[in-house]
Amino acid sequence: MKHFLKETDFARAELPKLFALARQLKRTRGKRGAPKPLLGQTWALIFSKSSTRTRVSFEVGIHELGGNPLFLNKNDIQLGRGETIEDTAQVLSRFVHGLVVRTYDHAEVERLAAAGSVPVINALTDFLHPCQIFSDAFTMAERWARGTTGQALVDSLRGRKIAFLGDTACNMANSWILGAALFGMKISLAGPKGFAPSAECDALLAREGFDPKTAYNFTTDPLEAVRGADVVYTDVWVSMGKEEETKQRIRLMSPYAVTGKLFAAAKPDALFMHCLPAHAGEEVMPEVLASPRSIIFDEAENRLHMQKAILATLAAKRK
Ligand code: CP
Repeated sequence: MKHFLKETDFARAELPKLFALARQLKRTRGKRGAPKPLLGQTWALIFSKSSTRTRVSFEVGIHELGGNPLFLNKNDIQLGRGETIEDTAQVLSRFVHGLVVRTYDHAEVERLAAAGSVPVINALTDFLHPCQIFSDAFTMAERWARGTTGQALVDSLRGRKIAFLGDTACNMANSWILGAALFGMKISLAGPKGFAPSAECDALLAREGFDPKTAYNFTTDPLEAVRGADVVYTDVWVSMGKEEETKQRIRLMSPYAVTGKLFAAAKPDALFMHCLPAHAGEEVMPEVLASPRSIIFDEAENRLHMQKAILATLAAKRK
């Protein structure tokens, strides 16, 4: 059974086919004859946290692939009242063809995948957000690739540098570190002391065959991270579940705000990206969000196309 819990659940060799499929699904969206690989299937979305992009793109994507999306707020099902993850996984596996899960503890998606008998997709945990990273990488590749094949798209990422600023210990930072290693990209993260990528992130890199000492660079100097970058990336400073740390985080992270001046220190054609939702005036200034080199809405749109490719691939491997 193929799951998508972390970036490396797709091997490097599988990426060209996946990216080509995302491109094809984007081009054929709404056209007659668009593929329906989920025809007759129901995929459940179990969400414990708020979501706009992920929820809507998965619901629309499953529908467009011919399937039926079934949204389940964790608190509306017995899982929210203490039924075990293992029993939930086994019961839902008798009804649905796949699970898309947004939750806090990453171990929960691993336990659902281990106990159930249908594919599980990680729609964000406190540790990783792989759907976002694959959609982002596809968005970058659309800008950089010299050809239109899946191989050309994937090859266009190799050697490019991402500067990730702000909360460098969050799920998006972890996921981009693993994603950069998978795609052969360089990543430099700049954040406050105490926000270096965790030992858990290093352990994941090592388990997946990457050397944590060379896979990324962490610095407290935002200029160092941004110099020579092809992409300047940031995320909100207060992730879901960290609200009680709001004041302290804003104080510590304000030197890492992506201002026009900081963005100008990257390559002249560097792109600005943000997984959204954005807090304009906090982690990024309005002039950067509005810049012609800000591709935040292409990035959001590509959640749909890349996730459809992921859904179709997992559904095909299930047969
Ligand atoms: N970027 C992202 O995952 O957005 P949502 O929280 O709106 O799903």
